Amino acid sequence: MSYFAEPYKIKVVEPIKMTTREERIQAIKEAGYNTFLLKSEDVYIDLLTDSGTSAMSDNQWAGMMLGDEAYAGSRNFYNLEKAIQDVYGFPYVVPTHQGRGAENIISSLLIKPGDYVPGNMYFTTTRAHQERNGGTFVDIIIDEAHDPAVEIPFKGNVDLNKLEDLINRVGADKIPYISVAVTVNLAGGQPVSMANLRDVHTLAKKHGIRVIFDATRAVENAFFIKEREEGYADKSIKEIVREIFSYADGCTMSAKKDNLVNIGGFLALREEEIYEEATEMLVLFEGFPTYGGLAGRDMEALARGTYEMIDEAYIAHRVGQVRYLGDQLINAGIPVMRPIGGHAVFLDARAFLSHLDQEEFPAQSLAAALYVDSGVRGMERGIVSAGRDIKTGENHKPRLELVRLTIPRRVYTDRHFDVVAESVINLYEKREEIPGLKFVYEPKTLRFFTGSFEPTKKSPIFE
Ligand code: F0G
Repeated sequence: MSYFAEPYKIKVVEPIKMTTREERIQAIKEAGYNTFLLKSEDVYIDLLTDSGTSAMSDNQWAGMMLGDEAYAGSRNFYNLEKAIQDVYGFPYVVPTHQGRGAENIISSLLIKPGDYVPGNMYFTTTRAHQERNGGTFVDIIIDEAHDPAVEIPFKGNVDLNKLEDLINRVGADKIPYISVAVTVNLAGGQPVSMANLRDVHTLAKKHGIRVIFDATRAVENAFFIKEREEGYADKSIKEIVREIFSYADGCTMSAKKDNLVNIGGFLALREEEIYEEATEMLVLFEGFPTYGGLAGRDMEALARGTYEMIDEAYIAHRVGQVRYLGDQLINAGIPVMRPIGGHAVFLDARAFLSHLDQEEFPAQSLAAALYVDSGVRGMERGIVSAGRDIKTGENHKPRLELVRLTIPRRVYTDRHFDVVAESVINLYEKREEIPGLKFVYEPKTLRFFTGSFEPTKKSPIFE
């Protein structure tokens, strides 16, 4: 059976508000046509992110009541440490409030000004931390990842030639670590193959370079390996996850995704010396080593979520539900990022709104139009998110200009996704009417979060 109904049932419900089109036009105007600035209560189906938006299980909620809120030595920390050692296989665990807390620590410890940090496509906060510490991010993902239409099984793979060229050009001593994301968020949630992870590790070790994984959606990556890579069909998700991380010296983790919690993260490491330095930074920026940035109850929910995420039925349904939405759009001829990835369906706004120039922010405009049409909230992942080049001040112009419809874990039913599909198809039929946008306010860093816009011309889409 390739796709089955939810492997859970509903015990608690959270009502959502139904809004009128007039109310939504007003709301998006007040939000500066930026879906980040909408009030959540004005949203019907919230596909802004899969980060911290999971529904926790009864088992996790029960664990919350067992929170040991001691400043030092909380039993929940030891449960968490054991779960991470067992599932990911790293001996040293540093709890942080979320992923970027871990990114801050590892980037500050390892990157020196003038260094280069190769990675399989950038992620916003990851790159921002690398640059803040004087590093230059270098994209070493395979070329196919930048083309939304190419269908290959492991579109998140590292191009080993690009990696080797960089090592030869700048020297291994200028590369503090290779940063590998499993899966690759901005490439559409695309996975990396086990063979590729193994090869990156071998090449890195040949040159004495560390490999740090971004583990944020590694369980989804493990599912794709099981489904697509020869020799893994009969292995358990747990075994595959352990093998993935055997090719890394450490990982940063936003546990708000895979691990089914609303807040939390960690840095996990293999080297004691770096672990010790990391805990010194931890006490400055996050908290004492046995809680980092987390309450005892949060660590307990995270420890339990770390086992729930590797449940075979859970992960098959999770990826299946994302595909359920994606397939409806593909069947209707909507341009989407192919193949459908692990956490989201990405609309190809460049193809969808081919009448707009990229500097008219097509993905930003499409996300706003979708909200007005049906109360569905997605997120721009294109030129606005990519920001400006820190040296020239010009807009980075990524080839991918996408609207991300991100699927929270265990939250919505398939009927919700029928509504989303219907609305996207409806907009596609009148796509020529969707206008471009221009900045009214442009913040200097991570401008997609708080920037505001207005349409470049009057249009029935927003009136
Ligand atoms: N790495 C990846 C691949 C991510 O997707 C994120 C967050 C982070 C690191 C940072 O983690 O938010 O816990 O500090 N992604 C969210 C998203 C924000 O919506 O994709 P964080």
